[in-house]
Amino acid sequence: MNVTIIGTGYVGLTTGVALAYLGHRVTCVDKNPRIVERLAKGEATIHEPGLEELLRRAASHLRFQTAIPDLKGQGVVFIAVGTPTKHNGDADLQYVDAAAKEVAERIQPGARLVVVNKSTVPIGSARHVEGIIRRSLEGRGTEAQVWVASNPEFLAEGRAMHDTLYPDRVVIGADDPAAVGLLHDLYAPLLEQTFAPPVETPRPERYALPPLITTTPTSAELTKYAANAFLATKISFINEFSRLAEHVGADITEVARAIGLDTRIGPKFLQAGIGWGGSCFGKDTRAILATAKSYDYAMPIVESAILVNERQRLHVIDKLQRHLKVLRGTTVGLLGLAFKGNTDDLRDAPALTLIEHLHERGAVIKVHDPVAMDNARRLYPELPVTYCCDPEALAAGCDALVVVTDWPEYTRLPLGAMKARMKGELLLDARNLLNPESAREAGLTYVGIGR
Ligand code: NAI
Repeated sequence: MNVTIIGTGYVGLTTGVALAYLGHRVTCVDKNPRIVERLAKGEATIHEPGLEELLRRAASHLRFQTAIPDLKGQGVVFIAVGTPTKHNGDADLQYVDAAAKEVAERIQPGARLVVVNKSTVPIGSARHVEGIIRRSLEGRGTEAQVWVASNPEFLAEGRAMHDTLYPDRVVIGADDPAAVGLLHDLYAPLLEQTFAPPVETPRPERYALPPLITTTPTSAELTKYAANAFLATKISFINEFSRLAEHVGADITEVARAIGLDTRIGPKFLQAGIGWGGSCFGKDTRAILATAKSYDYAMPIVESAILVNERQRLHVIDKLQRHLKVLRGTTVGLLGLAFKGNTDDLRDAPALTLIEHLHERGAVIKVHDPVAMDNARRLYPELPVTYCCDPEALAAGCDALVVVTDWPEYTRLPLGAMKARMKGELLLDARNLLNPESAREAGLTYVGIGR
């Protein structure tokens, strides 16, 4: 099938590469020429495990360009552009609107297309995009069959390729059975898992075929917000209990393990730490609150999840202050900048909040990250930090180290060598990632979250 993807960021690129690997002919469009140039050369523009290999393997089915091609015949067009936060918390639809207009202008007479909202968009956006396209077609006197569907994306950064090839479910919100039919055909290789799994992204053992959930556009749109608000709340819930665990002297990692074994609860998203970050949870929880407010409806659970998350980041600073007493003039080394492990994404990263507050309080800040340092230098040239090439160089002269990102390689840190180069001995593990015993054996004072 012919697939066009508007917006080649984390979601657009992953979706495009996966669909090309499944055998569709995919054109990925991005208005940023730098992104298009690099992708056309086979270079991955984001850090995602398995992406670069798949990009190479699917190259013959993939094209990258800055302009939307003529949309003729039968096909699917995905809108996967950003939906940032407006001042009132609502999602800003300016990029979606622009993309919809640009798509509409390329639709040729006789085309039979499904335009899919893949971006996370507020309730009513399918109808809104449909209106933009219909008005454009009428204005140009172009006769074409175009349906607009909602097909929210649930991938997690750091495992985006895996989540795209082996989804838990596929949700399609569309009013017209023809649109559902086309999207069903598009996703058939995923739904039936008829493709050969790439070696870098193997199919999980005991993977059950993903159900296709067909519903209305409104329910599909609400599903995405409900999923993200629920996951954000789950993290805030365990963080709230982690603080109580600190008061009463319990270990939250053991509590989380014990409750997570209850199949009604499940073990995921129960890691107490510095709280969530990233481009989605903060933005989407605020957007759904803005939607609720427009109906004069309050959502206290979601509001509290946001509040607890903000408080949790500051709690890490307070803990540092409590142990170091004076932050002014002390040297703090941050292990990790990315908002979570296996990604180079810095959007709403807790590390940025730590840097801001530590700098305000006069601390000297050193940082290390396995992949996100280039992005940090490019996006935040004024960041008041010293970049270090490895964890040992980071540790040199530090009064304290803070584990900020749950990079898998940080579970294997050379703690003895690092301690030998430090001035102080505090290791604040804001992800509960390390083994406290190993840290103590290395001569460090280990402080975790809720334990
Ligand atoms: P991103 O910022 O990485 O990518 C968006 C891309 O769209 C950019 O490269 C930008 O240059 C391009 N763009 C914007 N307007 C364009 C236009 N008119 N024509 C061509 N290209 C255009 O954003 P990301 O993270 O991929 O998110 C996209 C949407 O997907 C958002 O609504 C987000 O909430 C949602 N989402 C993101 C997930 C994630 O983990 N990043 C997961 C699930 C949903």
